[in-house]
Amino acid sequence: MNSLLSIKNLDVCVQSKEIIHSLSMSLEPGSVHVIMGPNGAGKSTLALALMGYPGLRTSGSIKIGADELIKAPADVRAKLGMFLAFQNPEEIEGVKVSNLMRKAKEARTPGKEPDLDSMVKDRNEMIEESKKLGLNEGFITRDINVGFSGGEKKRLEILQMMALKPKVAILDEPDSGLDVDGVRLIADAIRSLQDGNRCFLIITHYPRILKYITPDHVHILSKGRIVASGGPELAHKIEEKGYSAFMK
Ligand SMILES: Nc1ncnc2c1ncn2[C@@H]1O[C@H](COP(=O)(O)OP(=O)(O)OP(=O)(O)O)[C@@H](O)[C@H]1O
Ligand SMILES: [Mg+2]
Repeated sequence: MNSLLSIKNLDVCVQSKEIIHSLSMSLEPGSVHVIMGPNGAGKSTLALALMGYPGLRTSGSIKIGADELIKAPADVRAKLGMFLAFQNPEEIEGVKVSNLMRKAKEARTPGKEPDLDSMVKDRNEMIEESKKLGLNEGFITRDINVGFSGGEKKRLEILQMMALKPKVAILDEPDSGLDVDGVRLIADAIRSLQDGNRCFLIITHYPRILKYITPDHVHILSKGRIVASGGPELAHKIEEKGYSAFMK
């Protein structure tokens, strides 16, 4: 089957230090891939590099379908359907949640001026989705992440994913800092988007989210390289034995 996201020989440098070394991965439409790995392994650097974070120097190939993105800025990648939920979402004072989400959606459908009816419909959908994620109605009128609890920030990342319905969703520790109900709600949200046209790359430290989402592939990243790949059983092996068995 053709890949939806295809990564080939990706090198990523921060300043002059190479963090990711010749990494290759292929995500088929409909698949869920999980990346686990010790602190500092390069998981977030990989996620940021895929999304086109400007502070990184990258070489190799990153493709969505047939489109080569290695030199594309983040907004082009987003328009092609890539989405990143950050490990540490930024606070953005003066920008309301509802405005960010509306603008992001408009950017995905250029040339289509939203009418009042569709704006009201989108807003109502946003409120419904935020309720499903355990967020109250007033939430969308607040400044992005300003004063949000750790768990609320994570829920907002998922709310954005639900609104944008990306083709390639990269979720960097969507479950960290969440209470047990939050993990289940976020897993439900991810599952509700799962279909044969999207793929997910989920970075996590905890097999607990994998109680609710069954990954097709689990990869272990260590020192910027994939050192093992397998099925869901790999996540449980890590929980039992730690990473030392996989370190090179
Ligand atoms: N801007 C930077 N300047 C210097 N070093 C950096 C920078 N960004 C990342 N690094 C280094 O790159 C390595 C990988 O960091 P990264 O955040 O990708 O790890 P991670 O696998 O996501 O870890 P964690 O599980 O703790 O989130 C670390 O050693 C980190 O200190
Ligand atoms: Mg990280």
